[in-house]
Amino acid sequence: MSDQSAFDTDVWTLTRFVMETGRQAKGATGELTQLINAMLTAIKAISSAVRKAGLAHLQGLAGSVNVTGDDVKKLDVLSNDLVINMLQASYSTCCMVSEENKDLIITPKDKRGKYVVCFDPLDGSSNIDCLASIGTIFAIYKRLSEGEPTEKEALQQGNNIVCAGYALYGSATLVALSTGDGVNFFMLDPAIGEFILTERNVKIKPKGKIYSLNEGYAKYFHPSINEYLKHKKYPEDGSAPYGARYVGSMVSDIHRTIAYGGIFMYPANEKSPKGKLRLLYECNPIAFIIEQAGGLATTGTQRILDVQPESLHQRVPFVVGSPDDVNEYLSFVKKFS
Ligand code: AHM
Ligand code: MG
Repeated sequence: MSDQSAFDTDVWTLTRFVMETGRQAKGATGELTQLINAMLTAIKAISSAVRKAGLAHLQGLAGSVNVTGDDVKKLDVLSNDLVINMLQASYSTCCMVSEENKDLIITPKDKRGKYVVCFDPLDGSSNIDCLASIGTIFAIYKRLSEGEPTEKEALQQGNNIVCAGYALYGSATLVALSTGDGVNFFMLDPAIGEFILTERNVKIKPKGKIYSLNEGYAKYFHPSINEYLKHKKYPEDGSAPYGARYVGSMVSDIHRTIAYGGIFMYPANEKSPKGKLRLLYECNPIAFIIEQAGGLATTGTQRILDVQPESLHQRVPFVVGSPDDVNEYLSFVKKFS
């Protein structure tokens, strides 16, 4: 086969996919397409910065100086600035919530549009300095009312999500995206700087063979969690024990869970009574993607997407994954309640 015949000349890029989906949506104005494209530009720039971090000495403390003597920004600060600037320049947002900003980020009046975006620009920051995979997470909502944006715009249930996704900066850069019609995976081809559709309508296995959580906190877990984990390690029905995997970078752990099946949990514990993960920009977007892939996402007592947010940085216990695995976990919660 010649090189030419191996070259796909009608490739589905993410930009093409988003434009096509936008054109098919009733009453679409193209604003969402603009927004998603702006997010993708930010993701490409973050990906490039992540890949260069070691070389450029971008890691470490904010304000540190790189080898050439220039001031460099910490990767998560840089990522945050990139997302905010790209999104505001897309004329499609009215306000945003970022893990990095305490307050609601209000788009300047002349650049406002009809969407609200909640995002974590670089999740898994404790993994930056050891070069393990990290990610970006985002959820997009329609604004609820006209006028000066307030926190209320961002305190919407996950049920209202219009589009959500994550980017994984792993051995390759991947974007998982859903506009409520299934989940698609796109891989960044650095040669052309475009995301290429690699898997359509991804579905999670009904049941996996892996459990994933920070088991170091077992001392502080509720007995229902420890009983569930015991059952995974010493099954009494003759089945094989589950494998344990935990990167400690949620996007990596979630992506593996979608790809291989199984369960990921960050439950409440005595030290963190609401768990660690944040509802608006960590749990909701991931719950949306997982459900769109046929999985489940729960706090243990409530479906994540049904939770009514009360504050921008609210935490919730988070259990997601293959439906049979999550339901099995819920049966342990029930037994102990
Ligand atoms: P971060 O937003 O400060 O990066 O924290 C979120 C991360 C998740 O990616 C990961 O699932 C979790 O924290 C790991 O926490 P722990 O070290 O307690 O296991
Ligand atoms: Mg985070």
